[in-house]
Amino acid sequence: MSSAEGWGPAILDWLLPDSWWLLLGLAMLLVVGAFVVAFVLLLYMISPLMSPKPLKLNGAHVVVTGGSSGIGKCIAMECYKQGAFITLVARDESKLVQAKKEVEKCAINDKQVVLCISVDVSKDYGQVESVIKQAQEKLGPVDMLVNCAGTSLSGKFEEMEVDCFKRLMEVNYLGSVYPTRAVVTTMKERRMGRIMFVSSQAGQIGLFGYTAYSPSKFALRGLAESLQMEMKPYNIYVTVAYPPDTDTPGFAEENKSKPLETRLISETSGVCQPEQVAKIVVKDAVQGNFNSSVGPDGYMLSALTCGMSPVTSITEGLQQILTMSLFRTIALFYLGSFDSIIRRCMIQREQSKGADKSE
Ligand SMILES: NC(=O)c1ccc[n+]([C@@H]2O[C@H](COP(=O)([O-])OP(=O)(O)OC[C@H]3O[C@@H](n4cnc5c(N)ncnc54)[C@H](OP(=O)(O)O)[C@@H]3O)[C@@H](O)[C@H]2O)c1
Repeated sequence: MSSAEGWGPAILDWLLPDSWWLLLGLAMLLVVGAFVVAFVLLLYMISPLMSPKPLKLNGAHVVVTGGSSGIGKCIAMECYKQGAFITLVARDESKLVQAKKEVEKCAINDKQVVLCISVDVSKDYGQVESVIKQAQEKLGPVDMLVNCAGTSLSGKFEEMEVDCFKRLMEVNYLGSVYPTRAVVTTMKERRMGRIMFVSSQAGQIGLFGYTAYSPSKFALRGLAESLQMEMKPYNIYVTVAYPPDTDTPGFAEENKSKPLETRLISETSGVCQPEQVAKIVVKDAVQGNFNSSVGPDGYMLSALTCGMSPVTSITEGLQQILTMSLFRTIALFYLGSFDSIIRRCMIQREQSKGADKSE
């Protein structure tokens, strides 16, 4: 017997059973893969059926705190364009009157009304409750509350006035708690409503210069998550909006005192227009989405920081599961670049101090 005759069948015997197992394994993998794909597609298809019913803004009463300027004013205009009745809340009466005129230009019918209320939302709950009551008497129960009144101060931790920490918690956090407390009882009775908290991307990540501002915006997330769990059985949906840097009077004011590091880090992403932000956050609140983010950076941050936050659609949950590790990898690069910006600023400062001394 030649060696070819002897080896050939032996090799075939050895290979064939293995190939069958291999083929069987591959076939099973394909079947499992097809099932997974079909399951995911099915979830995507039924996802809209499980989401909240969108709120109709036409004829709805929307209260916007911080509605006399910037993002809040644009949110009011966006809601007015969709037929809502608006109550604008802020402190400065002349700014309120000016904003009312601008919002009125967006009317789609002659029944629409814009009401102005001058109050400090951060000072006294009794006062906030009483003005909300007046607004409800004039324009009916509040269907949507937008907590947008807020302010930002940046600076190095040890250089900021100690009072700033208290002030920012009062305006940005308590200034959202009080109006919300004033509307939820009626919303629960009516078994409907939307509550929006305008946080910030600085309410998702702590950045250089924001030791006073970030915590006041992070706090809104804790409030919103707890509140959503209490309100969901009453068909009330809470939205937390995380706008990026947005071109507003408030942003221009903050820029005057921003540390160099904070400015350079901010410049790694662009500046949005308030109209664009308003369109997105209003759409999310109407749909009852818990998270509302703007732009690709915002989308990534929301997916990264979703933690145990509620989801209002399966699609959103699936996207978060699938993108988490990729986004964490990208985030590590961002963090590295922020650290290097801060190191460079420190070296430059030390070098210029050294040069000053040697002169
Ligand atoms: N612009 C951004 O880059 C950016 C980014 C992320 C998040 N945000 C957040 O978005 C919200 C709006 O910011 P913006 O840039 O549009 O600011 P803005 O142009 O300064 O407007 C702030 C509004 O809030 C009102 N307000 C401030 N303190 C108040 C108080 N104690 N009681 C009642 N009303 C008060 C202001 O009116 P009066 O001063 O007359 O009271 C004004 O109507 C803020 O919460 C801010 O933190 C802004």
